[in-house]
Amino acid sequence: MSDQVELTTIDYSKDRPKAKNPVKVEDLTLRDGHQSLFATRGRTEDMIPVAEMMDEIGFWAVEMWGGATFDTMHRFLGEDPWERIRTLKRYLKKTPFSMLLRAQNLVGYRNYADDVAKAFVERAAVNGMDIFRTFDALNDYRNFETVVGEIKKAGKHFQGCICYTMTEPRMGGEVYNLEYYVSRARALESMGADSICIKDMAGLIAPYDAYSLVKALKAAVKPPIHLHSHFTSGMSSMSHLKAIEAGVDIVDTCMAPYAFRTSHPAIEPLVMTLLGTNRDTGFDIKALADISQKLENEILPKYKHLLDDTKVSIIDINVLLHQTPGGMLSNLVNQLREMDALDKIGEVYAELPRVRKELGQIPLVTPTSQIVGIQTVNNVLFDDENERYKMITAQVKDLCYGLYGKTAVPIDEEVQKKALKNYPRGEKPITCRPAEVLEPELEKAKKDVEGLAVDIDDVLIYALYPVTGKRFLKWKYGKEPMPAEVKSKTLEDAKAEIELVKKAKQGKLVEKKDKDVPEKGENLRTFNVFVDEDYFEVGVEETGDSPVIKYVQAIQNGLAAAPQAPAAPTVASGPQPAPRPAAPSAPAAPKAPAAPKPAPAEAPKPVPAAPADGTPLPSPMPGMIVSYAKNVGDPVSKGETVVVLEAMKMENSLPSPVDGTVKQINFSSGDSVAKNDILCVIG
Ligand code: CO
Repeated sequence: MSDQVELTTIDYSKDRPKAKNPVKVEDLTLRDGHQSLFATRGRTEDMIPVAEMMDEIGFWAVEMWGGATFDTMHRFLGEDPWERIRTLKRYLKKTPFSMLLRAQNLVGYRNYADDVAKAFVERAAVNGMDIFRTFDALNDYRNFETVVGEIKKAGKHFQGCICYTMTEPRMGGEVYNLEYYVSRARALESMGADSICIKDMAGLIAPYDAYSLVKALKAAVKPPIHLHSHFTSGMSSMSHLKAIEAGVDIVDTCMAPYAFRTSHPAIEPLVMTLLGTNRDTGFDIKALADISQKLENEILPKYKHLLDDTKVSIIDINVLLHQTPGGMLSNLVNQLREMDALDKIGEVYAELPRVRKELGQIPLVTPTSQIVGIQTVNNVLFDDENERYKMITAQVKDLCYGLYGKTAVPIDEEVQKKALKNYPRGEKPITCRPAEVLEPELEKAKKDVEGLAVDIDDVLIYALYPVTGKRFLKWKYGKEPMPAEVKSKTLEDAKAEIELVKKAKQGKLVEKKDKDVPEKGENLRTFNVFVDEDYFEVGVEETGDSPVIKYVQAIQNGLAAAPQAPAAPTVASGPQPAPRPAAPSAPAAPKAPAAPKPAPAEAPKPVPAAPADGTPLPSPMPGMIVSYAKNVGDPVSKGETVVVLEAMKMENSLPSPVDGTVKQINFSSGDSVAKNDILCVIG
């Protein structure tokens, strides 16, 4: 059997014949590796030193770009994402470049119109992208149609993904069974996929399931099969090996310093494992070791502060226990803590599979994991025995309308009907390809940045990220100075910082005592600050004079692919690590681009007037007022929406508790509110 792994008895020191069927390897160090471990903060200048060495290895491809890369680069690193491809192309001349494309979401968080999608793919190809690994959170390949047409037109490699998800402890059950995956692979083959990737973003695939799945796919379809499996649960090195035994063509790895934890298996052990077999990679282990050493000594000290070292364990066994992405569970815990309801975690675990099933048993991957997770929390906190789905987020409504695509099984009819009551686009869900209901966007984007954007690549940065994209273009063309925290730091800076931290830990940092962060006091008030796609929790405390901002903690919303990280450490003074922003793999609904959210941290909270007579509507959770649906004096009936509140990036319509008239409104759009703040009074 040709796909069986065969051992030989050659003398490796003298002879290493070329394997009959070498495993091909895609290296993810320069994209998913630093995305998973270091919040995507890797800079181009730190890729150049190893680029030529990596080009010599013989990788099938190097991954260069993904949604988070495009986002983080222009937002936090002050780097032009297009320029990274062009620059690295000069060093990696032989190895093809691969990118992760979120289908109609491109490298953003919502479905973009077809004209933007076409222009984006065309420009990515022209700039040097060779392989387009394309996925959709619902595995609804209608969301592929536009981009695949462009990939093919550009003569590039279309790799179709199947998002791997489960409802049972192992592959199987009624929905995500072998037949499901085979049918998805067949659909990709008929779309012209040049290769097919099993995208196991949460590290769920068990070794023997990887074996049967790869076997089945190899028997069912012609395109090469590629396995992308995160290490998160600790299974992926074993899954790789079983997949290789089943005949998988390509696997994904990282250089050792960028491997393991929530990243991927390392390349070096795999090379040694397969040495001398008919699947030998043929890679030079010494050349790989040189690269890893260079990364370890010369590059990684700059990023070490971003590594989540709060845990001793490098794997997340929650994935094994609950079959849900590790990041998603941490998000649920964070959210419950926000709402003072951490004791409800058991109920959330119980409700989660039910909500997921009612919402069409969708895969749990950004953004669907967030959508299911937040709705579950809402149900646990706000439902009672007489009524379920009392508070439905706007994103669940969009899902029920069909804006994300077709779900794996039909959405529960009652839930769907309830979600679409008074839904602005209509109460009857669409069945067409979601992008068909979107108006073209490119011409407007061009007009918006006239005089600022120099070429179409600039326009696309703006079209994808209107707020941060525009800000980046101003930096790029010197119209605004680039802030210091965006600029890179040197290895010397990094080493000095590490020294300081080390000293501080040993208690030798006496001279820094006066810079210690004070204890949080009783008067500390917490504000939610929303900046475009990011969400920060800011503590403000008045200490006598003017209000002092005590801390800023980014709230992690990134799911599967993002490491869960604590707030940036504040041990050392000197160059402080910037507050860690939310991982940019956060979700958003396929709707209008997020407007810049005012940051109300410094603004004193409006002092509510003496409460009017009537029934108060307290805020059920901390969040930000999106809008009031009613004005003072308007009649309102029980159950009608009065306020739209954003919490954890999901929008919630708050209904009137009684029939009556709006007597008082205490906040306005953009205000942050705490739990139980009286939003309005109905009398
Ligand atoms: Co990944």
